[in-house]
Amino acid sequence: MLLTEDAMLPPRAPDPAFRRDIIEGLSRHPKATPPIWFYDRRGSELFEAITDLPEYYPTRTETALLERHGPDFAAAVGAGRAVVEFGAGSSRKTPHLLRAVDPAAYVPIDISGDFLRAASAELASAFPGLPVLPVVGDFNGPLTLPAAIDGLPRLGFFPGSTIGNMEPDAAVDLLRAMHRLLGEGSMLLIGMDRIKDRDRLIAAYDDAAGVTAAFNLNLIRRINRELEGDLPLDGFVHRAVWNDDKARIEMHLEAVRPLHFHVAGQCFRMERGETIHTESSHKYGARDERLLLRAGGWEPLREWSDGDGLFSLILAGT
Ligand code: AVI
Repeated sequence: MLLTEDAMLPPRAPDPAFRRDIIEGLSRHPKATPPIWFYDRRGSELFEAITDLPEYYPTRTETALLERHGPDFAAAVGAGRAVVEFGAGSSRKTPHLLRAVDPAAYVPIDISGDFLRAASAELASAFPGLPVLPVVGDFNGPLTLPAAIDGLPRLGFFPGSTIGNMEPDAAVDLLRAMHRLLGEGSMLLIGMDRIKDRDRLIAAYDDAAGVTAAFNLNLIRRINRELEGDLPLDGFVHRAVWNDDKARIEMHLEAVRPLHFHVAGQCFRMERGETIHTESSHKYGARDERLLLRAGGWEPLREWSDGDGLFSLILAGT
């Protein structure tokens, strides 16, 4: 049962927040843009393709954890909660969780409206009778949950180590906002990617087939299309680097020659070798995970990890 409200869909016109973030990000030294803007339709498709790459272990590993530990989730969470998924996209992981915890409703939240509606329709047909209530929006901003889940206990679901795409202070703020949104008595099941061998990490963000490079470079296409940009596509290359001090993989778009371009009527210059930092993907040690959750107002209750310790799923309570 899929219930949507057209008023929740974002406008097709150029997004003023996109324009503001890109102009601000390109005016900064060093240049840096927020990763949320990767996810137009093409970007969302490319991200889905990344999740199938042999080098990109997080999705496979987390999905296997969700498949394997269903009975544990059922025992720890109980039936009848509203499952609220942050950044649902076209999640293939969700059915495993929904089958395990027998929820009263499912609320997927995602910034990409088209993608969310398609994924929600698919889920609704796989779970007939389950109210599916998609919310199009940015979970980093203020959100309202559908009135239909008022009074239901909630389980937040934040898979994929998406938390890792935030700076630590923003990650804490987001966890606190999730606590406020879901309320006392709620639970959170969150995926976190572990610190591991540097070469393995770099390969996951610079795959041999070049899909991650296309994902990163798609941001330039989007800027050109939506913000009247004239950035030369052949003027940039994809770079993935491990920042050991900050325990994170960084993605950059590096200028291969001196560049001069325009975005929304403003001029920008880049030196050869200068980069636009487009994404950070933080990785966590076992203690870091718990520290972050506690700082965000959540008490870790249980943790599941694969045999190689690549990835963790943590259940936390309020
Ligand atoms: C969505 N997020 C958790 C992905 C990550 O691994 O940081 C995005 C991504 N960027 C490049 N590959 C995947």
